[in-house]
This record gives sequence, C-alpha cells and structure tokens, in this order.
Amino acid sequence: MALYEKAPAKINLALDVLSKRDDGYHNVEMLMTTIDLADRIELCSLEQDRIKISLESRYVPSDERNLAYKAAYAFKKKYGINKGIHINIEKNIPVSAGLGGGSSDAAAVLRGLNRLWSLNIPMDELAELGATIGSDVPFCVYGNTGIAKGRGEIVERLASPPSCWVVLAKPDIGVSTRTIFQRINIENLTHPNTAEIIDALTNKDFKQMCANIGNALEEITLNVYPEVQRIKDVMRQAGAPGVLMSGSGPTVYSLIEHYSKAKRIYNGMRGFCQEVYLVRLLG
Ligand code: C5P
Repeated sequence: MALYEKAPAKINLALDVLSKRDDGYHNVEMLMTTIDLADRIELCSLEQDRIKISLESRYVPSDERNLAYKAAYAFKKKYGINKGIHINIEKNIPVSAGLGGGSSDAAAVLRGLNRLWSLNIPMDELAELGATIGSDVPFCVYGNTGIAKGRGEIVERLASPPSCWVVLAKPDIGVSTRTIFQRINIENLTHPNTAEIIDALTNKDFKQMCANIGNALEEITLNVYPEVQRIKDVMRQAGAPGVLMSGSGPTVYSLIEHYSKAKRIYNGMRGFCQEVYLVRLLG
C-alpha cells in the first residue's frame, strides 16, 4: 500500500539571529509560512528491513545523507520498527535555495510514517524528533504559519498571513546555510521587527506585513553573492512590494496582493532569471 504526503516549501517573513550558542548553533527567531510549491513524498512499506530512497535530481543524494533518509532512520529507531520503507521523492522545490525543501521532505516522512504504521504519535513528539534532523524540521512538521525559536526546535503557531501571491526568483547558485551562519558578526546584524509582523498577521494587514518583513542573514548572503542583490533590484524595479530573501538564500520573493500584478512581475522576472515561480501563500 502506498501513501502520499505533501511537503510544502516555506518562506521566511522574518529571520532574526539573537546570539551564538555554546553548541555552535545560533539562537534564532524564524517566522515562517508555507507556500503552494511542494515536493510529493510517496511511502511504501517493504518486507525487508531497509530504507530505500528514489528521486530524480542532480543535486540531492539518495543515500543516508538525504534528510528524508535521516528522518526514516530516526523514526524507525525511536519507535523500534523493523519494517522497511521505500521513499519516493518528487522534487519540485529548488535545492539549497532557502525554501526548506529538504527539511519539509524530512517532516513529511515523519508525518507519513506515523500514518502508514498507524502509530498516532502526537505532532509535538514528531517535531521533537524532527529537531534531531535539522533546525527547520520542527516548523515543517506543523506547516502553515509559525515562529521557530531556540535553535529552531521551539515552535509557536501563528495566525495565517493575509492571502496573497508570491513570486519567487532563484539565481543559478546553491547557498550553504552553514557557510552563511559562519560569517555572522552578531554586532553588525540588522534585526527585523518580528513583533510588527506578528501584529500584521493578527490584523490580516497586508501593507503592515510587507513593510516589516526582514532577514538578518540577507546582508551576509548579498555580500557573498551579488547576483542576489541584482534579483532584488530587478524585482523592486518591476514594482514588487515586500521583496526579501528567504532563509540563508539565494531565493528572493515578493508578496503581491493582486494576481494581475503578480503575473506581470512573474513574466518580467522570467526574462531575467531561469528559475521563477508564481504561487500562493498556504497560510
Ligand atoms: O540544523 P541544520 O543542519 O539545518 O543547520 C545547518 C547549519 O546552519 C548548522 O550547521 C549551523 O552551522 C547553522 N545554524 C545555526 N543556528 C541555527 C540553525 C542553523 O548556526 N539555529
């Protein structure tokens, strides 16, 4: 029997870095929301006790380095399951893009195995297990809109943003989150006004949301990859409101209220950048 689980991408409405921790990670505040761009995970039980990953991607390994593999391994170990699993990943989310694709795949595997093997494990416990796989996985277990604190393992769920369109543009580079975090100088960061964004979500105030989105990592990535700055500039010149880089980059997004304007900006970006998407916020 096969079971399917959607693994949506996320964008950061805010990403703040508060302090460096003794474990090498940083204390963060990441306000994230899921978008209608998703990988599709198919799970199928195997007789033989092994984890098999299949996917068509030049960029993602299908062995134990894959976060979906790590999720299945951690799940089987924690709950003492000796059945095997075949995980087929239809990859639609760009890789190393700041959109949480790998983390979302891992979270979908945790949710899917919970259903496939009828274990009824509460979401909070799945999120806790997800934290052992990656800092964005706990948020991805819940999806929708939330703020992840600590290293990313403390997730508070938030009201959905006002509905709108999202144009995403990704330059032809992959960014290593680790490399960007390593370049942080805590004293020099520009902090987003996260409280104002939360307020905007509560009020469903599109303008207030766009005026306050912010990402403390943006400046670092822009310095290393000037092509990200160029994409930001072109998007702004096209009249896009609320332009921001997601995660550690390099994908840049814009939030747009009306479809006609979103489509115009999408078309404009397509002439400039190879990977461009027009999607909706899932909230
Ligand atoms: O947890 P994850 O493996 O996704 O993190 C990738 C890298 O990003 C870590 O190795 C770490 O260098 C950095 N990171 C951090 N603080 C966080 C999350 C990630 O320093 N809260």
